[in-house]
Amino acid sequence: MTIYEIITKKKHNAELSTEEINWVVAGYVSGSIPDYQMSALLMAICFCSLSDRETVDLTMAMARSGDMIKPETGGFNVDKHSTGGVGDKTTLIVAPIAAACGVYVPKMSGRGLGHTGGTIDKLEAIPGFTTELPYEKFIENVKKIGLAVAGQTSSLVPADKKIYALRNATATVDSIPLICSSIMSKKLATGADGIVLDVKFGSGAFMKNIEDAEKLAEAMVRVGKLAGRKCSAVLTNMDKPLGHAVGNALEVVEAIEALKGNSPADLLEVSLALAAEMLFAAGKGTSEECLAMAERAISTGAALEKLRLMIEAQGGDPKVIDDYSLFPQPKRKKEIFAAGDGFISGISCEAVGMTSLKLGAGRQTKEADIDPSAGIVFHKTVGDKVQKGERLAVLYTSTDCDIEDIAREFETEFSYESSKNFSEEKSVKKNIKGY
Ligand code: URA
Repeated sequence: MTIYEIITKKKHNAELSTEEINWVVAGYVSGSIPDYQMSALLMAICFCSLSDRETVDLTMAMARSGDMIKPETGGFNVDKHSTGGVGDKTTLIVAPIAAACGVYVPKMSGRGLGHTGGTIDKLEAIPGFTTELPYEKFIENVKKIGLAVAGQTSSLVPADKKIYALRNATATVDSIPLICSSIMSKKLATGADGIVLDVKFGSGAFMKNIEDAEKLAEAMVRVGKLAGRKCSAVLTNMDKPLGHAVGNALEVVEAIEALKGNSPADLLEVSLALAAEMLFAAGKGTSEECLAMAERAISTGAALEKLRLMIEAQGGDPKVIDDYSLFPQPKRKKEIFAAGDGFISGISCEAVGMTSLKLGAGRQTKEADIDPSAGIVFHKTVGDKVQKGERLAVLYTSTDCDIEDIAREFETEFSYESSKNFSEEKSVKKNIKGY
């Protein structure tokens, strides 16, 4: 078997055997297959795709490339994963809700990728908060308070770390089998009993249309089911940022407000749908009962209390919950005003993510530092009627980026219509259950 033969086979749309897939993953992780040959294979997969069997084989080979853990919490462990979005702070809302309802959430999360944000970067905006928990402490926290969120250790799914970095650099991210294997290998290796997937579609997502998002969701749910997990997916809209805030500290504040009962409608809709799926997977009741439980966890303040306990248990300052001035504060801001009268008919969501990144909320290079204070707060959103000169959004940064130039470009990302002849979409489109 040679990598040359395997690339040629995939280039001609032939199915790779389980043995060939295992050999490629092991060879790439060990370094015997170089980046340029792996890139060629990934591009061939982008064009010719993988069968269901090949996708399962790739996922399992990647999952087994490092440690496979089983969180020994003594309870039913539920995990939630998003395929990547802009303004997506739902983990900070749904994990405390699930914990408040008696479900264990041992969550390993990632950092921002491309124009999309990451939970670890957001949590690190809380003064003192650490996401580098020794494994024993991680489990101890879950047992004690119901939830812990940590970064993935390097011994978990090393194949994904290497392959993802290569995909990011070779324009091979947006392939259904590659996204499926990347996400599901991590979910299977971290051993959750229940897995809830938030599969995003739209201009700010990797899947630009709902049909592709549905195919991705079905592929991931199929893999989860084959691996014996209770796996379900919720298809959610990412044509505009979720909620009003984009950026690390800004999103933590918005998540805290959501747990205090003050959430933008779209963020609440998606968060409740995901939390209800997590409770359902844990056998807490019917879908309707789970939704009502999730709502109660917010209205009683129980979920906010779980977030406070998690912040404290991970070294953060829990006073941030009542005093937002304790978060890193931006040194500069720039207001954006409406260019004309009318209704906002669209905001380029990927451009919003890129703007936030340029302000310092994301990384332009792998090694770059994050500015936790940077980001965008929207005061108007899609569907809103605006008058020329009305404030649409505020950009924040503490970096020395060219905020004037960024603002000029950002202003062009809003589109307007004179009358409201476009329909406002619901954020949650569909649930797909694998059990
Ligand atoms: N998130 C991941 O973890 N992997 C992908 O391939 C895309 C989004």
